[in-house]
Amino acid sequence: MKLNWTERLVVSNPIRLAIQHLEINWFQSIMPLEPGAHILEIGCGRGVGAKLIIEHFQPARLHLLDLDVRMVERAYDYLSSTANHRLSFCVGNATALPFEDESLDAVFGFGFLHHVSTWRSSLKETARVLKVGGIYYIEELYPSLYQNFITKRILAHPHHDLFNSQELRDALIEVDIALNHTFELKRFGILGVGIKTEKGAAANVSIECRLKI
Ligand SMILES: C[S@@+](CC[C@H](N)C(=O)[O-])C[C@H]1O[C@@H](n2cnc3c(N)ncnc32)[C@H](O)[C@@H]1O
Repeated sequence: MKLNWTERLVVSNPIRLAIQHLEINWFQSIMPLEPGAHILEIGCGRGVGAKLIIEHFQPARLHLLDLDVRMVERAYDYLSSTANHRLSFCVGNATALPFEDESLDAVFGFGFLHHVSTWRSSLKETARVLKVGGIYYIEELYPSLYQNFITKRILAHPHHDLFNSQELRDALIEVDIALNHTFELKRFGILGVGIKTEKGAAANVSIECRLKI
């Protein structure tokens, strides 16, 4: 689901940028990647996350994908001074990723999954394109933040099959992604680092660091 104008404002301000700075530092401290990885960012928005990914993870190739062509154009402009030969831009749907099975080292998703009404299909696709041992870096919000009395009136989100912590964790295990590290703000949202496992092995991976505030 594309953003309405209110949420375009929400994700286009310096506070959002500062939050993503903190998050990428956390991701890197928890699970750094060797330079030269092949990475996808789903729901790239205006490209702020992609720039941080480039600075912190030095990928050989970074694919940026978003459902909204205007967002992809903004990302293209935002990253025009960055190493463009390493970037590819794609208008596409998280539920039908245009990448081969097990072709990517890492996938990033900053706050996009709760916009996808068929979010389980998106997780399935994410797992499909990740190599075994590949990493899923995820930042997500829960309904109490984006579907409360105020936000449900001003933001546009799916209304059915919403996920909180447990639904998300169960769905990740279902697609063979083991959430290995998490930082969770009770009912508000989660930062997580997941590892794509062999089939059926995700439930057996223990969580090494779970911070809950
Ligand atoms: C809340 S914004 C987050 C943007 C950016 N990642 C950030 O953190 O600032 C969610 C983004 O996901 C995109 N999006 C929503 N549904 C999508 C889908 N099914 N496939 C790909 N992108 C999608 C929207 O167009 C939007 O750019």
